[in-house]
Amino acid sequence: MNKKGKGTKTSKFGVPGRINHDSSQFYASRLYEDFPTEKKVKYVESTIPKENLNKIFCKSCENMEELPDNSVHLMVTSPPYNVGKEYDQNLSFTEYREFLKKVWKEVYRVLVPGGRVCINIANLGRKPYIPLHAFIIKDVLDIGFLMRGEIIWNKGSSASPSTAWGSWLSAKNPTLRDVHEYILVFSKDTFKRENPKKRESTISKEEFLEFTRSVWTFPAVSAKKIGHPAPFPEELPYRFIQLYTFKGEVVLDPFIGSGQTAIAAIKTGRYYVGYEINEEYVKLADKRIKNFLHRFKSPKLFDYIKKGTTNV
Ligand SMILES: C[S@@+](CC[C@H](N)C(=O)[O-])C[C@H]1O[C@@H](n2cnc3c(N)ncnc32)[C@H](O)[C@@H]1O
Repeated sequence: MNKKGKGTKTSKFGVPGRINHDSSQFYASRLYEDFPTEKKVKYVESTIPKENLNKIFCKSCENMEELPDNSVHLMVTSPPYNVGKEYDQNLSFTEYREFLKKVWKEVYRVLVPGGRVCINIANLGRKPYIPLHAFIIKDVLDIGFLMRGEIIWNKGSSASPSTAWGSWLSAKNPTLRDVHEYILVFSKDTFKRENPKKRESTISKEEFLEFTRSVWTFPAVSAKKIGHPAPFPEELPYRFIQLYTFKGEVVLDPFIGSGQTAIAAIKTGRYYVGYEINEEYVKLADKRIKNFLHRFKSPKLFDYIKKGTTNV
């Protein structure tokens, strides 16, 4: 119990539940000395020019000059892994981290205070294993983002069926076969998002209960079916959009590939901005978005695409 006799308080033995939990003692501990802390910043939100909304730019996202500072509400992406896919550049690990760091800094610039960053990442190799997610966490924290949690995406039976056992039924060298990926969640400067324009949340109670859990289970999508070597399912950006944005806000995917984030944004009444360096994928994404809009033939959707303003 805390001083006022209401709710629970962090104790040496932990607490079974958390009701009006008073955690001030925990957060004041020296453990937090070395981590970025919340900043006292005024909420600012710039408007993106209409012609740059609902658009995929065919260029490197290392420079996103089309987006003003403090203009994006959520970034969700899966970066290239530098593992020899056709779009990878064969960088050294240090060069690869420097490249991504440049992108995360741009993301920091364009996000509104409290805006979230959601990075989908799988770890690499076995001999030895490269915990890519650990390095990305370090780099993103160094920029000043506040880490908010991580999601284990359990791909279950849809994970590619690896038979690299290491040593079959022998203790000599059995190898772990990943059936999961990570999604790392951060926010810029503050924990809370302001909502001065009183925009509407669209998440249902069932979704909220499910999406706030740290393990998500849904299948991967077929690369062949989508026409891109490494798409994530639409479900992934959909969940973050529902959790972290209000209707009419802007979602950025700096490595948008086949356009899954754009489709999830349109479905939920949000605007998208994407970057993609490969012209073929930009064409693919634009075609998939167009097909999606025609399939739904929703006049409301068309109207909001035409309107192209964040002032809704
Ligand atoms: C892992 S894929 C993302 C797939 C996407 N999530 C989807 O569902 O289709 C990474 C994408 O980043 C693109 N890419 C690589 N370097 C880039 C850069 N510097 N700027 C923008 N896009 C880049 C690649 O062409 C590739 O399509």
